[in-house]
Amino acid sequence: MSSPFAPDETLIDAAKAIQDKAYAPYSNFKVGAAIRTPSGEVFTGVNVENAAYPEGTCAEAGAIAAMIAAGQVKIAEVAVIGSSADPTPPCGGCRQKLREFGGADVPVTMISRSGVTLTMTLDQLLPGAFSTEFMD
Ligand code: THU
Repeated sequence: MSSPFAPDETLIDAAKAIQDKAYAPYSNFKVGAAIRTPSGEVFTGVNVENAAYPEGTCAEAGAIAAMIAAGQVKIAEVAVIGSSADPTPPCGGCRQKLREFGGADVPVTMISRSGVTLTMTLDQLLPGAFSTEFMD
């Protein structure tokens, strides 16, 4: 990825548009995620919490599930928005989940509640990621 990188505004808008649909009555921290595939399709997800706290799922996981259910397995770009003052970073588990379907150079744009963005590649977010290459 060359720098400076111009994130896909459509993808950012998709993440923002879905964020309020999140079910987060326990943390009150709503997250929206949007994934664009190489074909240009966009899949979105939100965090879904549970009274049994560990059973909750992240927004990125929801977007990945929608992408997989649509028969697509490659991520070209990601946008994530949370209710934080600084751009919301994907959690560690979500970094690994995104890396399963996205290459090292895939840009992830993190967005704050006021709309400030920060873009990093998946490799920057998860250096030295575990992958199938290690299972030879
Ligand atoms: N959350 C996400 O949806 N994605 C992330 O990458 C970070 C955390 C959610 C999980 C939980 O519902 C809430 O944010 C607070 O941790």
